[in-house]
Amino acid sequence: MKIALFDTKPYDKEVFEKHNSYKNEMSFTFYETKLNEDTVSLSNGFDCVVVFVNDTLNSNVINQLYKYGVKLIALRCSGFNNVDVKEAFGKIHVVNVPNYSPYAVAEHTMALLLTSIRHIHKAYNRTRDYNFSLNGLKGFDLHGKTVGIIGTGRIGKVFANICNGFGMHVLAYDLCPDTSINVEYVSLENLFKHSDIISLHCPLTPENYHFINSKSIAKMKDGVILINTSRGSLVDTEDLLEEIKNKKVGATCLDVYEEESDIFFEDKSNHILQDDTLARLLSMPNVLITSHQAFLTEEALNNIAKTTINNIKNFFEDGIIKNEICYHCGRSAQCKKKRRERCF
Ligand code: NAI
Repeated sequence: MKIALFDTKPYDKEVFEKHNSYKNEMSFTFYETKLNEDTVSLSNGFDCVVVFVNDTLNSNVINQLYKYGVKLIALRCSGFNNVDVKEAFGKIHVVNVPNYSPYAVAEHTMALLLTSIRHIHKAYNRTRDYNFSLNGLKGFDLHGKTVGIIGTGRIGKVFANICNGFGMHVLAYDLCPDTSINVEYVSLENLFKHSDIISLHCPLTPENYHFINSKSIAKMKDGVILINTSRGSLVDTEDLLEEIKNKKVGATCLDVYEEESDIFFEDKSNHILQDDTLARLLSMPNVLITSHQAFLTEEALNNIAKTTINNIKNFFEDGIIKNEICYHCGRSAQCKKKRRERCF
């Protein structure tokens, strides 16, 4: 099995080599570049491509991979909004890593929230400069506040538990509510209306693209705190910027950004940032940005590598592929997964 991994960093190489117990059967080629229409030719001659959140697998890329004889697209992440799964159906199988560590993302979400409201990032810089003044560092208690969680899947659920531990009142909205968790499910309108803090944990789909925009923000409390650790395009960033300038949004914490693909994960410290929206956001004292870092824990990286290698092994051994996803999964009988077969 010849496997090409795209958009890799030294920590990916290290962890994938460490967990490859099938060295005689699986050979890895690590590319730093992202997979997209310009780089797809690098996949020629490989059986499988392993991709990440900012690789672009649109219909042209899928068809080119198919022509080259690539049989499997293995996402080393859970979200798959960057893969045209409709185009891939019937041509190339797609697998993901659905559950590598919801704790990593949920804990990072709380880290962002606490850092923002208690101004830890500012205090850290002050004390390093021997400035021990407290002026401007006043925060507020999370205890007794209302948090609205949109999407209560694996990550949203863990974040809800963390918030419950802080003594917060947890409102939630999900297309498929889970009655086993300690949250109050409400309509999206009511979640917007009553939450002091809103955190996004739903996947990006064509239906919810930019659903956080000026219109929805208008329905929120004045001074609301918005956290997005899910996918950048859930939020209309230009609208968010306006609402921060209008002081409608009190603070925002972003681990994802809709135009992140050419910027995040890279050291741009010696470059002139060309993205004016991001530059403006970074200039604001109540905006905290991390560069898609929420997943990055030791445990998550190990689980991602182990599960991806198992996904590939399952596929090439002709077994059913536990983590296969397809356009029809859960939508129609065209997907054979429910019959304990491969999706197609
Ligand atoms: P999951 O599939 O376990 O849960 C997603 C939940 O969202 C489900 O309960 C689903 O019913 C709900 N949902 C779907 N569409 C919705 C909508 N329009 N409105 C409200 N709820 C909706 O997914 P998981 O593992 O909890 O991950 C959530 C998202 O987090 C991923 O899709 C991904 O975009 C993001 N993520 C971000 C990472 C980071 O490093 N920042 C790392 C991993 C995931």
